[in-house]
Amino acid sequence: MFTDRVAHAADISRLNAPPHGHASRGFALRHLPDPSLDEDWQYIIVDDGIKRQLMRFLDVLSSLAQKEVSSTRLALRRAVLLEGPPGCGKTSLARGLPNEWAKRRQRRAVLLSVNAHSLPSGEKGGTQKNLLTLFQQISEVASAGHLTFVLIDEVESIATNRATISSQTNPLDTLYGVNAFIESLDQCVRDHPNMIFLFTTNMPGAIDRAIGERADFALLVPLPDETQRRLILLDTLQELDREQRLPELRQGDSSSEWRQLVDLTSGLSARQLRHLVVAALTLVDQPADLRLAHVVEAARREALLREHERQTGGVYNHDYQQR
Ligand SMILES: Nc1ncnc2c1ncn2[C@@H]1O[C@H](COP(=O)(O)OP(=O)(O)OP(=O)(O)O)[C@@H](O)[C@H]1O
Ligand SMILES: [Mg+2]
Repeated sequence: MFTDRVAHAADISRLNAPPHGHASRGFALRHLPDPSLDEDWQYIIVDDGIKRQLMRFLDVLSSLAQKEVSSTRLALRRAVLLEGPPGCGKTSLARGLPNEWAKRRQRRAVLLSVNAHSLPSGEKGGTQKNLLTLFQQISEVASAGHLTFVLIDEVESIATNRATISSQTNPLDTLYGVNAFIESLDQCVRDHPNMIFLFTTNMPGAIDRAIGERADFALLVPLPDETQRRLILLDTLQELDREQRLPELRQGDSSSEWRQLVDLTSGLSARQLRHLVVAALTLVDQPADLRLAHVVEAARREALLREHERQTGGVYNHDYQQR
């Protein structure tokens, strides 16, 4: 049975070394808690309910791991899927969550971040081989007994919906790859109750249904609402203005300029919002000259660009391509 035992020095050095017989690994390994991951939780601004829910997911999965419940009778796969539009915090939360959970619950754990893009292969049977090697390496780490989080970012790249596999993209190899993924996942669940998978995607429709269904919990990380947009913009400005010179930051965020900014940025992702503040820096001679008005101007330009993209369908050389 899984125990949350404290890692001995020997275990740690074993985990840090590539598994026996493999020159390189398809994942990065971190011991948790790891302060370098704190920002991936702290500065990701989402509805509080989302963060609470994510914590609950891990509480439930880890407590079930300790209870020796039948994974068949609960249909458990110990997997969480985060989905939603690009740039809203899925990858950050999937990295920050296990770290925050380990901190709060005072548990030692490891986080394996899988490089999913390195798995598909042009060679016959290559994807399947890469996957099997990856899961063998993951299993070796989990065998040390630590709670092991496995993060597979952009999971659609290895869990492609088999119904949509195109004949131009080496279909058999992709098909075998997905099958190998499903089998390996099921095997891991049986062999290692101390493993928890974290998947992210911004293309849930591109994920094979058999894999989507295996996630015990799925959660949408949506576009930021009005309150969150304000907080994200404020946080970005505060990072640039640590001495708090900006009058707009001292006065709070109820001015008409703030309202205008929040309205103009409706529909933008959190990443786009942060980029907007950086774009506003190009409108001033030096960072110290930055005012909220510059961010409003950057937001106006961004809104014009989006409107133009909407009108053209994002294709500027349509006529040329038609010829
Ligand atoms: N909810 C958020 N609050 C604050 N900043 C955010 C948020 N979401 C994203 N960001 C900013 O955008 C960056 C990228 O976020 P992240 O990679 O987590 O997004 P994602 O949802 O995984 O995007 P994608 O679908 O494109 O992979 C973060 O490092 C952060 O600067
Ligand atoms: Mg991501």
